Amino acid sequence: MQQDLIVRTAPFPAQKTAILVLFAGQGLKLGPQARKIVSASRLDIARLARAGDFTGRAGSALQILAPARTGADRLVIIGTGKPADAKAPPPARSFADRGAALVAQLVASRADRASVVLDTPDFSAEAIARFVSGMKLRHYRFDRYRAKKKPDDEALEPPARLTVTLHVADRRVADRAIADRDAVTGGVILARDLVNEPANVLGTLEFAAEAGKLADLGVEIEVLTDKQLQKLGMGALLAVAKGSARPARIVVMQWRGGKKGEAPIAFVGKGVVFDSGGISIKPASSMEDMKGDMGGAAAVTGLMRALATRKARLNAVGVIGLVENMPSGEATRPGDILTSMSGQTIEVVNTDAEGRLVLADALWYTNTRFKPKAMIDLATLTGAIAVALGGEYAGLFSNNDELAGRLVKAGEASGDKLWRMPLSPAYDKLINSRFADIKNSSGRNAGASTAAQFLQRFVKDVAWAHLDIAGTAFGGPNGETSPSWASGYGVALLDQLVRDHYEG
Ligand code: BES
Ligand code: MN
Ligand code: ZN
Repeated sequence: MQQDLIVRTAPFPAQKTAILVLFAGQGLKLGPQARKIVSASRLDIARLARAGDFTGRAGSALQILAPARTGADRLVIIGTGKPADAKAPPPARSFADRGAALVAQLVASRADRASVVLDTPDFSAEAIARFVSGMKLRHYRFDRYRAKKKPDDEALEPPARLTVTLHVADRRVADRAIADRDAVTGGVILARDLVNEPANVLGTLEFAAEAGKLADLGVEIEVLTDKQLQKLGMGALLAVAKGSARPARIVVMQWRGGKKGEAPIAFVGKGVVFDSGGISIKPASSMEDMKGDMGGAAAVTGLMRALATRKARLNAVGVIGLVENMPSGEATRPGDILTSMSGQTIEVVNTDAEGRLVLADALWYTNTRFKPKAMIDLATLTGAIAVALGGEYAGLFSNNDELAGRLVKAGEASGDKLWRMPLSPAYDKLINSRFADIKNSSGRNAGASTAAQFLQRFVKDVAWAHLDIAGTAFGGPNGETSPSWASGYGVALLDQLVRDHYEG
Protein backbone atom coordinates (compact mmCIF):
# COMPACT_ATOMS: atom_id res chain seq x y z
CA MET A 1 0.00 0.00 0.00
CA GLN A 2 0.77 3.67 -0.13
CA GLN A 3 3.78 4.56 1.94
CA ASP A 4 5.89 7.62 2.31
CA LEU A 5 3.39 10.22 1.24
CA ILE A 6 1.50 11.96 3.99
CA VAL A 7 -1.26 14.34 2.99
CA ARG A 8 -3.13 16.31 5.60
CA THR A 9 -5.47 19.25 5.59
CA ALA A 10 -5.15 22.43 7.62
CA PRO A 11 -7.06 25.71 7.80
CA PHE A 12 -5.96 29.02 6.32
CA PRO A 13 -3.61 30.80 6.53
CA ALA A 14 -0.71 28.66 5.35
CA GLN A 15 2.13 28.42 7.85
CA LYS A 16 5.80 28.87 7.12
CA THR A 17 7.19 26.03 5.13
CA ALA A 18 10.04 25.25 2.77
CA ILE A 19 7.85 25.11 -0.32
CA LEU A 20 4.66 27.07 -0.68
CA VAL A 21 2.38 26.21 -3.59
CA LEU A 22 -0.35 28.47 -4.99
CA PHE A 23 -2.67 28.08 -7.95
CA ALA A 24 -3.46 30.75 -10.51
CA GLY A 25 -5.90 30.78 -13.40
CA GLN A 26 -5.32 32.33 -16.81
CA GLY A 27 -4.37 36.00 -16.50
CA LEU A 28 -2.68 35.34 -13.16
CA LYS A 29 -5.99 35.05 -11.30
CA LEU A 30 -5.19 34.14 -7.70
CA GLY A 31 -7.58 33.02 -4.97
CA PRO A 32 -8.16 35.28 -1.94
CA GLN A 33 -5.67 33.49 0.33
CA ALA A 34 -2.96 33.41 -2.30
CA ARG A 35 -3.52 37.10 -3.01
CA LYS A 36 -2.91 37.87 0.68
CA ILE A 37 0.34 35.93 0.69
CA VAL A 38 1.58 37.60 -2.47
CA SER A 39 0.72 41.10 -1.33
CA ALA A 40 2.34 40.54 2.09
CA SER A 41 5.50 39.40 0.30
CA ARG A 42 5.55 42.67 -1.68
CA LEU A 43 6.76 40.69 -4.67
CA ASP A 44 6.15 42.35 -8.03
CA ILE A 45 4.27 39.32 -9.21
CA ALA A 46 3.26 40.77 -12.56
CA ARG A 47 6.87 41.47 -13.43
CA LEU A 48 8.06 38.08 -12.19
CA ALA A 49 5.40 36.41 -14.30
CA ARG A 50 6.42 38.36 -17.36
CA ALA A 51 10.08 37.52 -16.81
CA GLY A 52 9.19 33.85 -16.33
CA ASP A 53 6.77 33.85 -19.29
CA PHE A 54 4.00 32.71 -16.97
CA THR A 55 0.36 33.54 -17.69
CA GLY A 56 -1.42 30.85 -15.69
CA ARG A 57 -1.77 28.51 -18.65
CA ALA A 58 -2.79 25.03 -17.49
CA GLY A 59 0.22 22.86 -16.70
CA SER A 60 2.71 25.74 -16.53
CA ALA A 61 4.42 26.85 -13.32
CA LEU A 62 6.37 29.81 -11.98
CA GLN A 63 9.03 29.28 -9.34
CA ILE A 64 10.29 32.10 -7.18
CA LEU A 65 13.31 31.29 -5.06
CA ALA A 66 13.79 32.73 -1.56
CA PRO A 67 10.84 35.15 -1.71
CA ALA A 68 11.00 37.68 1.11
CA ARG A 69 8.38 37.83 3.89
CA THR A 70 6.71 34.50 3.06
CA GLY A 71 8.78 32.23 5.28
CA ALA A 72 9.25 29.93 2.28
CA ASP A 73 12.44 28.95 0.48
CA ARG A 74 10.51 28.61 -2.70
CA LEU A 75 7.17 29.85 -3.92
CA VAL A 76 5.57 27.82 -6.69
CA ILE A 77 2.62 29.17 -8.63
CA ILE A 78 0.90 26.56 -10.78
CA GLY A 79 -1.27 27.54 -13.71
CA THR A 80 -4.76 26.09 -13.98
CA GLY A 81 -5.84 27.72 -17.23
CA LYS A 82 -9.20 29.34 -17.85
CA PRO A 83 -11.08 30.02 -14.62
CA ALA A 84 -13.84 27.56 -13.88
CA ASP A 85 -17.11 28.26 -15.61
CA ALA A 86 -20.12 27.44 -13.45
CA LYS A 87 -21.93 25.89 -16.41
CA ALA A 88 -18.98 23.74 -17.48
CA PRO A 89 -16.81 22.96 -14.46
CA PRO A 90 -13.52 21.28 -15.27
CA PRO A 91 -13.79 17.48 -15.34
CA ALA A 92 -13.04 15.74 -12.04
CA ARG A 93 -10.25 14.02 -13.86
CA SER A 94 -8.24 17.21 -14.32
CA PHE A 95 -7.93 17.70 -10.55
CA ALA A 96 -6.29 14.31 -10.22
CA ASP A 97 -3.86 15.32 -12.95
CA ARG A 98 -3.11 18.56 -11.08
CA GLY A 99 -2.30 16.66 -7.90
CA ALA A 100 -0.16 14.21 -9.84
CA ALA A 101 1.78 16.95 -11.61
CA LEU A 102 2.45 18.65 -8.28
CA VAL A 103 3.85 15.48 -6.72
CA ALA A 104 6.07 14.96 -9.75
CA GLN A 105 7.40 18.47 -9.34
CA LEU A 106 7.96 18.11 -5.59
CA VAL A 107 9.75 14.81 -6.09
CA ALA A 108 11.93 16.26 -8.84
CA SER A 109 12.94 19.12 -6.56
CA ARG A 110 13.60 16.64 -3.75
CA ALA A 111 11.23 18.37 -1.39
CA ASP A 112 10.24 16.58 1.79
CA ARG A 113 7.57 19.04 2.88
CA ALA A 114 5.25 21.47 1.18
CA SER A 115 2.20 23.60 1.87
CA VAL A 116 -0.45 24.00 -0.78
CA VAL A 117 -3.09 26.70 -0.81
CA LEU A 118 -6.33 25.41 -2.35
CA ASP A 119 -8.39 28.58 -2.43
CA THR A 120 -9.52 29.02 -6.03
CA PRO A 121 -13.30 28.56 -6.41
CA ASP A 122 -12.98 25.43 -8.57
CA PHE A 123 -11.52 23.48 -5.63
CA SER A 124 -14.73 21.95 -4.27
CA ALA A 125 -14.42 19.21 -1.63
CA GLU A 126 -14.85 16.64 -4.39
CA ALA A 127 -12.14 18.35 -6.45
CA ILE A 128 -9.80 18.43 -3.46
CA ALA A 129 -10.38 14.70 -2.96
CA ARG A 130 -9.56 14.02 -6.62
CA PHE A 131 -6.46 16.18 -6.25
CA VAL A 132 -5.29 14.07 -3.29
CA SER A 133 -6.03 10.88 -5.20
CA GLY A 134 -3.88 12.11 -8.09
CA MET A 135 -1.05 12.86 -5.66
CA LYS A 136 -1.18 9.37 -4.19
CA LEU A 137 -1.50 7.61 -7.52
CA ARG A 138 1.50 9.52 -8.88
CA HIS A 139 3.58 8.77 -5.79
CA TYR A 140 2.99 5.02 -6.21
CA ARG A 141 6.04 2.84 -6.71
CA PHE A 142 6.59 -0.88 -6.94
CA ASP A 143 10.14 -1.35 -5.73
CA ARG A 144 9.93 -4.05 -3.12
CA TYR A 145 12.25 -6.32 -5.08
CA ARG A 146 15.10 -3.84 -5.41
CA ALA A 147 17.76 -4.96 -3.01
CA LYS A 148 20.14 -2.21 -4.11
CA LYS A 149 19.24 1.24 -5.24
CA LYS A 150 21.67 2.47 -7.86
CA PRO A 151 22.96 5.90 -6.86
CA ASP A 152 22.25 7.40 -10.30
CA ASP A 153 18.64 6.27 -10.02
CA GLU A 154 18.10 8.30 -6.93
CA ALA A 155 16.98 11.41 -8.78
CA LEU A 156 14.09 9.35 -10.16
CA GLU A 157 13.12 7.97 -6.79
CA PRO A 158 10.69 9.79 -4.57
CA PRO A 159 12.26 10.94 -1.31
CA ALA A 160 11.96 8.76 1.74
CA ARG A 161 8.98 10.72 2.92
CA LEU A 162 6.97 13.60 1.57
CA THR A 163 4.55 15.50 3.77
CA VAL A 164 2.08 17.78 2.05
CA THR A 165 -0.24 20.09 3.96
CA LEU A 166 -3.30 21.23 2.04
CA HIS A 167 -4.79 24.47 3.27
CA VAL A 168 -8.51 24.44 2.63
CA ALA A 169 -11.54 26.55 3.55
CA ASP A 170 -13.62 23.77 5.13
CA ARG A 171 -11.47 21.05 6.61
CA ARG A 172 -14.28 18.86 7.84
CA VAL A 173 -16.01 18.64 4.47
CA ALA A 174 -12.69 18.18 2.66
CA ASP A 175 -11.58 15.39 5.01
CA ARG A 176 -14.81 13.50 4.46
CA ALA A 177 -14.50 13.72 0.68
CA ILE A 178 -10.84 12.71 0.85
CA ALA A 179 -11.60 9.62 2.95
CA ASP A 180 -14.30 8.57 0.51
CA ARG A 181 -12.00 9.01 -2.50
CA ASP A 182 -9.14 7.25 -0.65
CA ALA A 183 -11.21 4.07 -0.74
CA VAL A 184 -11.01 4.11 -4.52
CA THR A 185 -7.33 5.08 -4.57
CA GLY A 186 -6.58 2.14 -2.26
CA GLY A 187 -8.43 -0.17 -4.65
CA VAL A 188 -6.42 1.09 -7.64
CA ILE A 189 -3.18 0.60 -5.72
CA LEU A 190 -4.16 -2.94 -4.71
CA ALA A 191 -4.88 -3.76 -8.37
CA ARG A 192 -1.51 -2.31 -9.40
CA ASP A 193 0.36 -4.28 -6.77
CA LEU A 194 -1.30 -7.53 -7.86
CA VAL A 195 -0.48 -6.91 -11.53
CA ASN A 196 3.11 -5.82 -10.84
CA GLU A 197 3.81 -8.84 -8.62
CA PRO A 198 5.76 -11.56 -10.50
CA ALA A 199 4.13 -14.92 -11.12
CA ASN A 200 6.66 -16.88 -9.08
CA VAL A 201 5.37 -14.97 -6.07
CA LEU A 202 1.71 -14.52 -7.01
CA GLY A 203 0.33 -17.89 -8.11
CA THR A 204 -3.31 -18.91 -8.00
CA LEU A 205 -3.28 -19.77 -4.29
CA GLU A 206 -1.43 -16.62 -3.34
CA PHE A 207 -3.89 -14.49 -5.31
CA ALA A 208 -6.80 -16.25 -3.62
CA ALA A 209 -5.21 -15.52 -0.25
CA GLU A 210 -4.84 -11.82 -1.14
CA ALA A 211 -8.51 -11.63 -2.12
CA GLY A 212 -9.34 -13.44 1.11
CA LYS A 213 -7.98 -10.49 3.07
CA LEU A 214 -11.03 -8.47 2.01
CA ALA A 215 -12.93 -10.46 4.65
CA ASP A 216 -11.50 -7.94 7.15
CA LEU A 217 -13.56 -5.25 5.43
CA GLY A 218 -16.76 -7.25 5.60
CA VAL A 219 -16.59 -8.88 2.16
CA GLU A 220 -17.88 -12.47 2.21
CA ILE A 221 -15.29 -14.71 0.63
CA GLU A 222 -15.65 -18.18 -0.84
CA VAL A 223 -12.73 -19.97 -2.45
CA LEU A 224 -13.80 -22.81 -4.75
CA THR A 225 -11.16 -25.54 -4.99
CA ASP A 226 -10.39 -27.48 -8.15
CA LYS A 227 -12.43 -30.39 -6.76
CA GLN A 228 -15.46 -28.14 -6.39
CA LEU A 229 -14.91 -26.69 -9.86
CA GLN A 230 -14.81 -30.22 -11.22
CA LYS A 231 -18.11 -30.98 -9.52
CA LEU A 232 -19.65 -27.87 -11.02
CA GLY A 233 -18.57 -29.12 -14.44
CA MET A 234 -16.16 -26.31 -15.26
CA GLY A 235 -14.34 -28.25 -17.96
CA ALA A 236 -13.30 -25.12 -19.85
CA LEU A 237 -11.65 -23.27 -16.96
CA LEU A 238 -10.01 -26.43 -15.63
CA ALA A 239 -8.53 -27.29 -19.03
CA VAL A 240 -6.43 -24.12 -18.89
CA ALA A 241 -4.93 -25.06 -15.52
CA LYS A 242 -4.07 -28.63 -16.51
CA GLY A 243 -0.51 -27.95 -17.61
CA SER A 244 0.40 -26.04 -14.47
CA ALA A 245 1.62 -27.28 -11.10
CA ARG A 246 -0.70 -24.68 -9.58
CA PRO A 247 -4.34 -25.64 -9.06
CA ALA A 248 -7.27 -23.59 -10.37
CA ARG A 249 -9.40 -21.53 -8.03
CA ILE A 250 -12.47 -19.37 -8.27
CA VAL A 251 -12.87 -16.70 -5.63
CA VAL A 252 -16.33 -15.29 -4.98
CA MET A 253 -16.43 -11.95 -3.16
CA GLN A 254 -19.78 -10.66 -1.98
CA TRP A 255 -20.43 -7.18 -0.69
CA ARG A 256 -23.92 -6.77 0.72
CA GLY A 257 -24.31 -3.04 1.20
CA GLY A 258 -27.73 -2.82 -0.46
CA LYS A 259 -31.23 -4.05 0.26
CA LYS A 260 -31.58 -7.61 1.42
CA GLY A 261 -32.52 -9.92 -1.41
CA GLU A 262 -31.92 -7.31 -4.13
CA ALA A 263 -30.14 -8.74 -7.18
CA PRO A 264 -26.47 -7.73 -7.26
CA ILE A 265 -24.28 -6.17 -9.92
CA ALA A 266 -21.68 -8.78 -10.84
CA PHE A 267 -18.06 -8.25 -11.84
CA VAL A 268 -16.10 -11.12 -13.36
CA GLY A 269 -12.33 -11.08 -13.86
CA LYS A 270 -9.85 -13.08 -15.93
CA GLY A 271 -7.12 -14.17 -13.56
CA VAL A 272 -4.44 -15.97 -15.57
CA VAL A 273 -1.51 -15.55 -13.18
CA PHE A 274 0.86 -16.34 -16.03
CA ASP A 275 0.06 -16.94 -19.70
CA SER A 276 2.84 -18.80 -21.49
CA GLY A 277 0.37 -19.67 -24.24
CA GLY A 278 0.46 -23.33 -23.18
CA ILE A 279 1.24 -25.85 -25.95
CA SER A 280 0.55 -23.06 -28.48
CA ILE A 281 3.46 -21.37 -26.75
CA LYS A 282 4.09 -17.66 -27.12
CA PRO A 283 7.31 -16.25 -28.60
CA ALA A 284 9.91 -15.28 -25.97
CA SER A 285 9.82 -11.57 -26.70
CA SER A 286 7.76 -9.77 -24.02
CA MET A 287 6.47 -13.02 -22.58
CA GLU A 288 7.40 -11.61 -19.18
CA ASP A 289 4.47 -9.21 -19.54
CA MET A 290 2.15 -12.17 -19.18
CA LYS A 291 2.55 -12.01 -15.40
CA GLY A 292 -0.04 -9.28 -15.82
CA ASP A 293 -2.62 -11.52 -17.48
CA MET A 294 -4.62 -11.42 -14.26
CA GLY A 295 -5.31 -7.69 -14.68
CA GLY A 296 -9.05 -8.29 -14.91
CA ALA A 297 -9.11 -10.25 -11.67
CA ALA A 298 -6.93 -7.60 -10.04
CA ALA A 299 -9.36 -4.85 -11.06
CA VAL A 300 -12.32 -6.81 -9.68
CA THR A 301 -10.48 -7.39 -6.40
CA GLY A 302 -9.46 -3.72 -6.18
CA LEU A 303 -13.04 -2.67 -6.91
CA MET A 304 -14.47 -4.92 -4.18
CA ARG A 305 -11.96 -3.42 -1.79
CA ALA A 306 -13.01 0.10 -2.78
CA LEU A 307 -16.74 -0.65 -2.43
CA ALA A 308 -16.31 -2.30 0.98
CA THR A 309 -13.98 0.42 2.28
CA ARG A 310 -16.40 3.19 1.46
CA LYS A 311 -19.37 1.03 2.46
CA ALA A 312 -21.10 1.42 -0.88
CA ARG A 313 -24.87 1.11 -0.69
CA LEU A 314 -25.40 -1.74 -3.14
CA ASN A 315 -25.10 -5.49 -3.43
CA ALA A 316 -22.08 -6.38 -5.53
CA VAL A 317 -20.41 -9.66 -6.30
CA GLY A 318 -16.93 -10.20 -7.67
CA VAL A 319 -15.95 -13.51 -9.24
CA ILE A 320 -12.39 -14.18 -10.36
CA GLY A 321 -11.12 -17.24 -12.23
CA LEU A 322 -7.54 -18.00 -11.20
CA VAL A 323 -5.42 -20.34 -13.34
CA GLU A 324 -1.95 -20.58 -14.83
CA ASN A 325 -1.51 -21.42 -18.52
CA MET A 326 1.58 -23.61 -18.90
CA PRO A 327 2.82 -26.29 -21.30
CA SER A 328 3.54 -29.74 -19.88
CA GLY A 329 2.84 -33.42 -20.50
CA GLU A 330 -0.54 -32.91 -18.93
CA ALA A 331 -1.42 -29.69 -20.67
CA THR A 332 -4.46 -29.27 -22.89
CA ARG A 333 -3.60 -29.80 -26.57
CA PRO A 334 -4.81 -28.05 -29.71
CA GLY A 335 -7.65 -30.20 -31.01
CA ASP A 336 -8.88 -31.21 -27.56
CA ILE A 337 -12.62 -30.91 -27.03
CA LEU A 338 -13.90 -29.68 -23.67
CA THR A 339 -17.31 -29.61 -22.07
CA SER A 340 -18.06 -26.31 -20.37
CA MET A 341 -20.31 -25.83 -17.35
CA SER A 342 -23.04 -24.59 -19.71
CA GLY A 343 -22.99 -27.96 -21.49
CA GLN A 344 -21.66 -26.44 -24.71
CA THR A 345 -18.61 -28.21 -26.10
CA ILE A 346 -15.49 -26.29 -27.13
CA GLU A 347 -12.81 -27.27 -29.60
CA VAL A 348 -9.49 -25.83 -28.47
CA VAL A 349 -7.72 -24.80 -31.65
CA ASN A 350 -5.22 -22.57 -29.86
CA THR A 351 -4.27 -23.07 -26.22
CA ASP A 352 -3.19 -19.42 -26.12
CA ALA A 353 -6.83 -18.33 -26.45
CA GLU A 354 -7.26 -19.40 -22.83
CA GLY A 355 -8.84 -16.34 -21.24
CA ARG A 356 -12.17 -16.98 -22.96
CA LEU A 357 -12.13 -20.56 -21.64
CA VAL A 358 -11.74 -19.28 -18.10
CA LEU A 359 -14.46 -16.67 -18.56
CA ALA A 360 -16.86 -19.09 -20.28
CA ASP A 361 -17.28 -20.99 -17.02
CA ALA A 362 -16.88 -18.01 -14.70
CA LEU A 363 -19.58 -16.05 -16.57
CA TRP A 364 -21.97 -19.02 -16.73
CA TYR A 365 -21.50 -19.69 -13.03
CA THR A 366 -22.02 -16.04 -12.05
CA ASN A 367 -25.05 -15.64 -14.32
CA THR A 368 -26.83 -18.77 -13.08
CA ARG A 369 -25.98 -18.48 -9.40
CA PHE A 370 -26.56 -14.77 -8.80
CA LYS A 371 -28.98 -13.72 -11.58
CA PRO A 372 -27.36 -10.28 -11.48
CA LYS A 373 -28.97 -7.02 -12.64
CA ALA A 374 -25.92 -6.48 -14.78
CA MET A 375 -22.77 -8.50 -15.39
CA ILE A 376 -19.49 -6.88 -16.38
CA ASP A 377 -16.32 -8.80 -17.12
CA LEU A 378 -12.79 -7.47 -17.35
CA ALA A 379 -10.05 -9.36 -19.14
CA THR A 380 -6.65 -8.87 -20.73
CA LEU A 381 -8.20 -10.92 -23.49
CA THR A 382 -6.67 -10.10 -26.87
CA GLY A 383 -3.56 -8.55 -28.37
CA ALA A 384 -5.93 -7.35 -31.09
CA ILE A 385 -7.59 -4.76 -28.81
CA ALA A 386 -4.17 -3.36 -27.94
CA VAL A 387 -3.36 -3.07 -31.64
CA ALA A 388 -6.62 -1.20 -32.23
CA LEU A 389 -6.77 1.11 -29.19
CA GLY A 390 -3.33 1.05 -27.54
CA GLY A 391 -3.20 2.26 -23.96
CA GLU A 392 -5.74 5.08 -24.38
CA TYR A 393 -9.04 3.24 -24.42
CA ALA A 394 -10.11 -0.22 -23.35
CA GLY A 395 -12.49 -2.06 -25.68
CA LEU A 396 -16.14 -2.23 -24.67
CA PHE A 397 -18.49 -4.90 -25.99
CA SER A 398 -22.07 -5.08 -24.78
CA ASN A 399 -25.48 -6.57 -25.50
CA ASN A 400 -27.16 -3.56 -23.86
CA ASP A 401 -27.03 0.03 -25.12
CA GLU A 402 -28.00 1.57 -21.80
CA LEU A 403 -25.25 -0.24 -19.89
CA ALA A 404 -22.75 0.56 -22.64
CA GLY A 405 -23.68 4.25 -22.53
CA ARG A 406 -23.30 4.37 -18.76
CA LEU A 407 -19.90 2.73 -18.98
CA VAL A 408 -18.62 5.13 -21.63
CA LYS A 409 -19.73 8.09 -19.43
CA ALA A 410 -18.10 6.59 -16.33
CA GLY A 411 -14.96 6.17 -18.41
CA GLU A 412 -14.81 9.85 -19.30
CA ALA A 413 -15.42 10.88 -15.69
CA SER A 414 -12.88 8.51 -14.16
CA GLY A 415 -10.18 8.70 -16.81
CA ASP A 416 -10.39 4.94 -17.44
CA LYS A 417 -11.68 5.48 -20.95
CA LEU A 418 -13.69 3.04 -23.07
CA TRP A 419 -14.42 2.78 -26.77
CA ARG A 420 -17.32 0.63 -27.92
CA MET A 421 -16.51 -2.13 -30.39
CA PRO A 422 -18.91 -4.26 -32.42
CA LEU A 423 -20.61 -7.55 -31.70
CA SER A 424 -22.43 -9.09 -34.66
CA PRO A 425 -23.91 -12.38 -35.83
CA ALA A 426 -21.36 -12.27 -38.65
CA TYR A 427 -18.53 -12.46 -36.10
CA ASP A 428 -20.38 -15.12 -34.16
CA LYS A 429 -20.49 -17.39 -37.22
CA LEU A 430 -16.69 -17.38 -37.41
CA ILE A 431 -16.34 -19.36 -34.20
CA ASN A 432 -18.49 -22.32 -35.20
CA SER A 433 -16.42 -25.50 -34.99
CA ARG A 434 -16.21 -28.46 -37.30
CA PHE A 435 -16.17 -30.89 -34.37
CA ALA A 436 -17.81 -29.18 -31.42
CA ASP A 437 -20.34 -26.44 -30.67
CA ILE A 438 -17.76 -23.69 -30.74
CA LYS A 439 -14.03 -23.23 -31.30
CA ASN A 440 -11.86 -20.96 -29.20
CA SER A 441 -10.21 -19.03 -32.00
CA SER A 442 -10.82 -18.09 -35.61
CA GLY A 443 -7.45 -16.51 -36.27
CA ARG A 444 -6.33 -12.89 -36.36
CA ASN A 445 -9.09 -11.03 -38.18
CA ALA A 446 -11.49 -9.18 -35.87
CA GLY A 447 -9.72 -10.93 -33.01
CA ALA A 448 -11.18 -8.78 -30.23
CA SER A 449 -14.72 -9.10 -31.58
CA THR A 450 -14.60 -12.87 -32.12
CA ALA A 451 -13.27 -13.25 -28.56
CA ALA A 452 -16.21 -11.18 -27.30
CA GLN A 453 -18.62 -13.30 -29.39
CA PHE A 454 -17.18 -16.37 -27.73
CA LEU A 455 -17.94 -14.92 -24.29
CA GLN A 456 -21.46 -13.96 -25.35
CA ARG A 457 -22.29 -17.61 -25.99
CA PHE A 458 -21.89 -18.11 -22.24
CA VAL A 459 -24.08 -15.17 -21.23
CA LYS A 460 -27.81 -15.67 -20.83
CA ASP A 461 -30.35 -12.85 -20.95
CA VAL A 462 -28.67 -10.40 -18.65
CA ALA A 463 -27.35 -6.92 -19.37
CA TRP A 464 -23.71 -7.75 -20.00
CA ALA A 465 -20.57 -5.85 -20.88
CA HIS A 466 -17.11 -7.16 -21.65
CA LEU A 467 -14.11 -4.86 -21.16
CA ASP A 468 -11.00 -5.97 -23.04
CA ILE A 469 -8.22 -4.34 -21.04
CA ALA A 470 -5.23 -6.01 -22.73
CA GLY A 471 -3.91 -2.59 -23.84
CA THR A 472 -4.67 -0.63 -20.68
CA ALA A 473 -3.97 -2.92 -17.68
CA PHE A 474 -0.20 -2.66 -18.00
CA GLY A 475 2.56 -1.34 -20.23
CA GLY A 476 2.77 2.10 -18.54
CA PRO A 477 3.74 4.69 -17.41
CA ASN A 478 0.60 6.08 -18.97
CA GLY A 479 -0.53 9.63 -18.14
CA GLU A 480 -0.03 11.89 -15.11
CA THR A 481 -1.58 9.59 -12.52
CA SER A 482 -0.18 6.27 -13.74
CA PRO A 483 3.60 6.15 -13.24
CA SER A 484 3.93 2.40 -12.94
CA TRP A 485 3.89 -0.52 -15.38
CA ALA A 486 0.59 -1.68 -13.95
CA SER A 487 -2.17 0.95 -14.17
CA GLY A 488 -4.95 -0.40 -11.95
CA TYR A 489 -7.29 0.26 -14.89
CA GLY A 490 -10.96 -0.47 -14.23
CA VAL A 491 -11.23 0.15 -10.49
CA ALA A 492 -12.02 3.88 -10.73
CA LEU A 493 -14.18 3.23 -13.81
CA LEU A 494 -16.47 0.71 -12.15
CA ASP A 495 -16.59 2.58 -8.86
CA GLN A 496 -17.80 5.58 -10.87
CA LEU A 497 -20.42 3.45 -12.64
CA VAL A 498 -21.68 2.17 -9.28
CA ARG A 499 -21.85 5.69 -7.79
CA ASP A 500 -23.70 7.07 -10.78
CA HIS A 501 -26.31 4.32 -11.25
CA TYR A 502 -26.49 1.55 -8.70
CA GLU A 503 -26.28 3.08 -5.24
CA GLY A 504 -28.92 4.20 -2.78
N1 BES B 1 -3.32 -12.78 -22.60
C1 BES B 1 -3.36 -12.79 -24.00
C2 BES B 1 -3.71 -11.42 -24.60
C3 BES B 1 -2.73 -10.32 -24.36
C4 BES B 1 -1.73 -10.07 -25.28
C5 BES B 1 -2.86 -9.51 -23.27
C6 BES B 1 -0.84 -9.03 -25.07
C7 BES B 1 -1.98 -8.45 -23.08
C8 BES B 1 -0.97 -8.21 -23.96
C9 BES B 1 -4.39 -13.78 -24.49
O1 BES B 1 -4.56 -14.91 -23.71
C10 BES B 1 -3.94 -14.27 -25.82
O2 BES B 1 -2.92 -14.90 -25.88
N2 BES B 1 -4.71 -13.96 -26.86
C11 BES B 1 -4.37 -14.37 -28.17
C12 BES B 1 -5.61 -14.91 -28.81
C13 BES B 1 -5.35 -15.64 -30.11
C14 BES B 1 -4.56 -16.89 -29.86
C15 BES B 1 -6.67 -15.96 -30.75
C16 BES B 1 -3.86 -13.14 -28.92
O3 BES B 1 -4.35 -12.04 -28.68
O4 BES B 1 -2.94 -13.28 -29.72
MN1 MN C 1 -3.15 -16.44 -24.15
ZN1 ZN D 1 -4.12 -14.65 -21.72
